[in-house]
Amino acid sequence: MVVKARVQPSLPPGPRGHWLRGNAPHYEADRIGFLQRNVRDYGDVFSFNENTTVVNDPALVHEILGRTNTDFLAEDAMFAGAGDPEATAAEAASWMAARRKGWRGFNRTVATAHAGRMMRLLDDLTDGTGGRRVDVLDLMARASGCMVADYCFGADGSGIVATIEANVAAALPIMSSGRLLPRWLPAARNRRFLAARRATAALIDDLIARRRSRPVPEAPRDLLDVLLAAREPELSHEQVRDVLRVTLVASYGVPGAAIAWAVRELVIQQDVRRRVKEEACAWEGRDDPPEITELPYTQAVVKELLRAYTPTWLMGRTARREVQVGSWSLPPGHQIMFSPYLIHRDPRWWPEPDRVDPGRWLGTESPHARHTYLPFGAGPRVCLGTQLGMLQLTLAISRLVRRYRFDVADPANRPASPSALLKPEGLRARFVPREAEDRLR
Ligand code: HEM
Repeated sequence: MVVKARVQPSLPPGPRGHWLRGNAPHYEADRIGFLQRNVRDYGDVFSFNENTTVVNDPALVHEILGRTNTDFLAEDAMFAGAGDPEATAAEAASWMAARRKGWRGFNRTVATAHAGRMMRLLDDLTDGTGGRRVDVLDLMARASGCMVADYCFGADGSGIVATIEANVAAALPIMSSGRLLPRWLPAARNRRFLAARRATAALIDDLIARRRSRPVPEAPRDLLDVLLAAREPELSHEQVRDVLRVTLVASYGVPGAAIAWAVRELVIQQDVRRRVKEEACAWEGRDDPPEITELPYTQAVVKELLRAYTPTWLMGRTARREVQVGSWSLPPGHQIMFSPYLIHRDPRWWPEPDRVDPGRWLGTESPHARHTYLPFGAGPRVCLGTQLGMLQLTLAISRLVRRYRFDVADPANRPASPSALLKPEGLRARFVPREAEDRLR
């Protein structure tokens, strides 16, 4: 009988850390600095602890993302199969079937209808600040919640924003660990999270039922219309609910963080702001929002901000089975983490990576090496809202610059704060209407 030799799982080298608390204290003290130091000391693949490997080689990261669903799971066990890889895999398969249908919802008709409504939502929120100094992140998180609720449900969606906020707040203790720290949660917090998740699902059920009771529109106005119109096969009620729930939660706060970075950067770089404003003012007097292709400079600003301040700064996958990663063989359940932020700021792939320069996107050549730009992820689980996110950010930034001057005290003193998302924590601003500015001149 031939006994097949089994490849022994092996772990890459890495910092040993404290005998009891491992690397957590050093990581907590300076998350990005810790990762950068260890890439320098151990190379592009290193062990964070016996359950987690950090990968920083762009080609390897790309390969891992491409093997999602087959060899790796994107699901966070806390949110999906509660630690059971097969239950999590079953949830992933059901999600993928719904996702394929959901993808059709991210189409031009729906996006155009949404763009006009989105501008009005943003105007209402910023006008509502009445020229007072406000927390930019709070305001833009709310804006991003309203935008995604509108995209999913049109006018019916306004009531769901508070519920999504509660859902995200309940998930935050889990998310903000950045997935590199132990996921133990006190039972009360766990219960709070599950209750918030149930409340969101119940509200979505209600919105679906109300929509089903109305006549079907000729053209879809939002994602819910598209999902209900899906045929061959039709989507089950649970699948419709899943696409909506995951979309609402996955996108909540992400565009908002990017807009907050834009506010900060456009105060620091006045020449960039001037060019965005010139482009925006070319559309003055037009009611309908411009096409994104009509705002090439603003689009370059968005791409650059998503490079330099990528909100989803840390991402992960879980090995579904024993997997080969480079020359390492890792056991089932092992976590692989990678940081788009580190890759975007690596001088091996980007010239002068710490300089925020929209101009790098305006040439005819790609400004970066292959696989080194991944603000939306990659592979079968790439962000469903890639185009929509670009549209929302470009139009929102153009609109804000056209209508306001941003009055920010000490913008450069708001360093990147990496928790669940990378955000300019504590940034406060007054949105001073341009007409008021112009009158003073
Ligand atoms: C600034 C804008 C945005 C950025 C930077 C962004 C980034 C990301 C990233 C990095 C992921 C994880 C991808 C992966 O694991 O490979 C993701 C997932 C996702 N995003 Fe976005 N996103 C943005 C906006 C949006 C918007 C506007 C929507 C929808 C309205 C959206 C819907 C989703 C969904 C549904 C997923 C989960 C996909 C899956 O697991 O299959 N995102 N996003």
